[in-house]
Amino acid sequence: MSNILVVGGAGYIGSHTIRVLKDKGYFPVVYDNLSKGHKKAVRGFPFVKGDLGNKKKLKNIFKKYDIETVMHFAAFTEVGESVAKPSKYYENNVCKVISLLDAMVEGGVKYFVFSSSAAIFGEPEKERIDENHPQNPINPYGRTKLMVEQILKDYDEAYGLKSASLRYFNACGAHPDGKIGESHENETHLIPIIFQAALGKRESIKVFGCDYPTKDGTCIRDYVHVNDLADAHILAMEKMARENKSERYNLGSGNGYSVKEIIGTVKKITGLDFKIEYAPRRAGDPATLIADPAKAETELGWTRRYNLERIIETVSDWEKKRKY
Ligand code: UFG
Repeated sequence: MSNILVVGGAGYIGSHTIRVLKDKGYFPVVYDNLSKGHKKAVRGFPFVKGDLGNKKKLKNIFKKYDIETVMHFAAFTEVGESVAKPSKYYENNVCKVISLLDAMVEGGVKYFVFSSSAAIFGEPEKERIDENHPQNPINPYGRTKLMVEQILKDYDEAYGLKSASLRYFNACGAHPDGKIGESHENETHLIPIIFQAALGKRESIKVFGCDYPTKDGTCIRDYVHVNDLADAHILAMEKMARENKSERYNLGSGNGYSVKEIIGTVKKITGLDFKIEYAPRRAGDPATLIADPAKAETELGWTRRYNLERIIETVSDWEKKRKY
């Protein structure tokens, strides 16, 4: 079993992926600068504190742990902030990734699993988004993700670096043991915000827009459990190593739920009631974003273990127990 460096492994998706890797017999080493990640989320795992842009440190770690694959989760992810501060996003999400990739090439690390995003597609041109959908990101965040995908193509051609780019739709949920989950300093994501309202940590949940051309007027998204995403990372990594080939996959469930439906499910599962306010649309939100996961299902054998109700149950459990 090969050793894997998980850059950003103390963050939300990274901390879930290291557990799935360990369960499957891999040896994940976490590398994180803890600017957003949580030390408590990596208890019991080998951990090195360091920055994505520290090429020298990374090369030493590649050698020390005999790293074969790097999984990269250390990106900034707030769309609104990327519009206000593009320099911050291009620096962290592109420039520092180039430095990481160079360290890999120089250190002889062969495989790269990249956290890409549905944001690379921009406004959807069809109901379900497959891998061939046009890529026209509408904000700097999405552009940083698309740029790295393009850089990866060039690095494969020139240096033989193989990569799997995984375009997440709406990552959500928490580990079923309730010990780790989503925890951002300034939360912007729908499900954690609904729970803040449900648990009295904020006055209400604001629904951004109820005049979209959807079944109930609110935005539709494709919510996929973080452990299902973690599974896809391992399947994609294994296929890449078997076939020595770069690939791209859209990771969602193929089902869309509206903001109102998510709120209704949280109310049903928790039995809690809370205040809902209707607010104007949030800039840059497309009406509907749903994945076509057929390629990941067929080529990777990827299936989802968590439906919406189970996702909300895991969040509910985490929110009751959370320690960070
Ligand atoms: N929403 C509300 N109220 C809130 C928060 C969100 O109504 O308080 C709505 C949003 O308008 C949107 C839906 O809930 O319609 C989901 O919003 P999130 O912020 O949870 O997620 P996004 O779909 O905006 O973003 C996700 C990822 C991003 C990624 C994007 C790709 O979190 O990292 O998908 O399109 F860029």
